[in-house]
Amino acid sequence: MPDLAYLNGEIMPIEAAMIPIEDRGYQFGDGVYEFVASYEGRLFMLEEHLDRLERSMRELAYEPISRTDIKNAVLELFKASGYLRAGIYIQISRGVAPRNHAYTKKMLPQIIMTIRPVKDMPAEIRENGAKAITVEDMRWGRCDTKTIQLLANSMAKQKALDSGCDDAIFITDSGIVREGTSSNLFIVAGGKLATHPLTPNILAGITRMAVLSICKEAGLEATESFFDTNALYAANEVFLTGTVTEILPVVRIDDNIIGDGKVGVITQQVYDLLKKKAMG
Ligand code: PDD
Repeated sequence: MPDLAYLNGEIMPIEAAMIPIEDRGYQFGDGVYEFVASYEGRLFMLEEHLDRLERSMRELAYEPISRTDIKNAVLELFKASGYLRAGIYIQISRGVAPRNHAYTKKMLPQIIMTIRPVKDMPAEIRENGAKAITVEDMRWGRCDTKTIQLLANSMAKQKALDSGCDDAIFITDSGIVREGTSSNLFIVAGGKLATHPLTPNILAGITRMAVLSICKEAGLEATESFFDTNALYAANEVFLTGTVTEILPVVRIDDNIIGDGKVGVITQQVYDLLKKKAMG
């Protein structure tokens, strides 16, 4: 089975899916997206991803699209692929029109999706932990909308790889720790977890949400609070959360070893509980 695409109602091989050059997603980055993964043939937290997609579209004043239509398209594509462990990328742009910064209400949102098997994180990184660098957060002020404008994220990720690390962590100029390039971040200090509160400066990650509820169920204390790079470097454990990332332990940040430099006990516990939740 080839990897498939969905393009405004039709399913086809990815290579066959083409969009017009005047799509506003292409010309202005005027698009929103989601990435949903499946485990053993079941899509994990699909409703929560659809909630966030609807919210992103509302925040950017897109013409509404029926949630049921989007959901049915996702399910149709998932079924057509036959994949059990799949990653579905969903992107909606405002529409296609002659290039003009301003947009009109009449634009017809363009829906594309792709489906591919999920590439799991190499076992080596999962078992030994990842290395990260910090970078200044130069993104715009609405990181809570999941837009396709990911240049700062992709530049930061590449910088991390070029310096022999696995990912980058966004920090404000005053040292507040925001999130990873495609993940949220948690620290563990004195047995308690903390993650950045929901503000316009970070994405409200679905995995973050799952981790917070896992903590509640498991009796782990977790707060949504601001912390700075000093707290980050001094944490006993640090981990990243995301649909692709799942729970990724970080054992070195810049020149600092985190905790004892090994995957932490709480990180491992949260990872195991998340996998259990995802596998149903
Ligand atoms: N990214 N923060 C940012 C900036 C992200 O891009 C993502 C996800 C997250 C985690 O969100 P979630 O838990 O809902 O996946 C946080 C997706 C996976 C991507 O860009 O492909």
